[in-house]
Amino acid sequence: MSGDLRIDGVSHGESIEFTFEGQPVKGHKGETVAMALWAHGCQALRNSSRDGAPRAVLCNMGICYECLVRIDGAVVRACMTEIEPGMIVERGGKS
Ligand code: FES
Repeated sequence: MSGDLRIDGVSHGESIEFTFEGQPVKGHKGETVAMALWAHGCQALRNSSRDGAPRAVLCNMGICYECLVRIDGAVVRACMTEIEPGMIVERGGKS
Protein backbone atom coordinates (compact mmCIF):
# COMPACT_ATOMS: atom_id res chain seq x y z
CA MET A 1 0.00 0.00 0.00
CA SER A 2 1.17 3.51 -0.70
CA GLY A 3 2.09 6.24 1.79
CA ASP A 4 0.03 8.15 4.27
CA LEU A 5 -2.59 10.48 2.71
CA ARG A 6 -3.61 12.11 6.00
CA ILE A 7 -3.46 15.91 6.25
CA ASP A 8 -0.15 17.11 7.66
CA GLY A 9 -0.27 19.16 10.83
CA VAL A 10 -3.45 17.56 12.19
CA SER A 11 -3.12 15.68 15.47
CA HIS A 12 -4.29 12.08 15.46
CA GLY A 13 -5.14 9.56 18.13
CA GLU A 14 -2.90 6.81 19.38
CA SER A 15 -1.31 4.68 16.65
CA ILE A 16 -2.96 1.32 16.02
CA GLU A 17 -1.71 -1.50 13.79
CA PHE A 18 -3.95 -4.03 12.06
CA THR A 19 -3.67 -6.15 8.93
CA PHE A 20 -5.44 -5.89 5.57
CA GLU A 21 -5.04 -8.78 3.17
CA GLY A 22 -2.10 -9.94 5.26
CA GLN A 23 -0.27 -6.60 5.08
CA PRO A 24 0.33 -4.46 8.17
CA VAL A 25 -1.53 -1.13 8.22
CA LYS A 26 -1.14 1.68 10.73
CA GLY A 27 -4.12 3.78 11.67
CA HIS A 28 -5.11 5.96 14.56
CA LYS A 29 -7.55 5.42 17.40
CA GLY A 30 -11.02 6.60 16.39
CA GLU A 31 -10.56 6.00 12.66
CA THR A 32 -12.82 3.61 10.80
CA VAL A 33 -11.41 0.71 8.84
CA ALA A 34 -12.50 2.44 5.63
CA MET A 35 -10.70 5.70 6.36
CA ALA A 36 -7.57 4.05 7.76
CA LEU A 37 -7.28 2.04 4.54
CA TRP A 38 -8.12 5.06 2.38
CA ALA A 39 -5.34 7.01 4.08
CA HIS A 40 -2.96 4.28 2.93
CA GLY A 41 -4.18 4.48 -0.66
CA CYS A 42 -6.34 1.38 -0.55
CA GLN A 43 -9.83 2.12 -1.83
CA ALA A 44 -10.96 -1.27 -3.24
CA LEU A 45 -12.55 -3.09 -0.32
CA ARG A 46 -14.39 -5.86 -2.14
CA ASN A 47 -15.36 -7.04 -5.61
CA SER A 48 -18.84 -6.99 -7.07
CA SER A 49 -20.59 -10.36 -7.04
CA ARG A 50 -22.14 -9.44 -10.41
CA ASP A 51 -19.11 -8.60 -12.54
CA GLY A 52 -16.12 -8.71 -10.20
CA ALA A 53 -15.50 -4.97 -10.45
CA PRO A 54 -13.72 -3.42 -7.47
CA ARG A 55 -16.01 -1.60 -5.06
CA ALA A 56 -15.07 1.20 -2.66
CA VAL A 57 -16.55 3.55 -0.10
CA LEU A 58 -19.54 5.40 -1.54
CA CYS A 59 -21.70 6.93 1.21
CA ASN A 60 -19.25 6.60 4.14
CA MET A 61 -22.22 6.59 6.52
CA GLY A 62 -23.48 3.02 6.61
CA ILE A 63 -26.22 3.13 4.00
CA CYS A 64 -24.92 1.70 0.72
CA TYR A 65 -23.04 -1.43 1.88
CA GLU A 66 -20.40 -0.92 -0.81
CA CYS A 67 -17.62 -1.15 1.76
CA LEU A 68 -18.18 -4.67 3.07
CA VAL A 69 -15.06 -6.36 4.44
CA ARG A 70 -14.41 -9.39 6.59
CA ILE A 71 -13.03 -8.76 10.05
CA ASP A 72 -12.01 -11.82 11.99
CA GLY A 73 -14.39 -13.75 9.70
CA ALA A 74 -17.47 -11.53 10.09
CA VAL A 75 -18.81 -9.37 7.25
CA VAL A 76 -19.08 -5.74 8.37
CA ARG A 77 -19.27 -2.26 6.88
CA ALA A 78 -15.77 -0.79 6.90
CA CYS A 79 -17.14 2.74 7.20
CA MET A 80 -18.99 1.90 10.41
CA THR A 81 -16.26 -0.11 12.15
CA GLU A 82 -13.48 1.46 14.20
CA ILE A 83 -10.04 -0.06 13.92
CA GLU A 84 -8.71 -2.08 16.82
CA PRO A 85 -5.19 -3.29 17.48
CA GLY A 86 -4.45 -6.62 15.81
CA MET A 87 -7.70 -6.92 13.90
CA ILE A 88 -7.50 -9.00 10.74
CA VAL A 89 -9.29 -7.37 7.80
CA GLU A 90 -9.81 -8.99 4.42
CA ARG A 91 -11.63 -7.96 1.27
CA GLY A 92 -15.02 -9.49 1.26
CA GLY A 93 -18.72 -9.34 1.39
CA LYS A 94 -21.02 -9.70 -1.56
CA SER A 95 -24.03 -7.57 -2.28
S1 FES B 1 -19.57 3.27 2.30
FE1 FES B 1 -21.71 3.05 2.29
S2 FES B 1 -22.08 1.63 3.90
FE2 FES B 1 -19.96 1.98 3.98
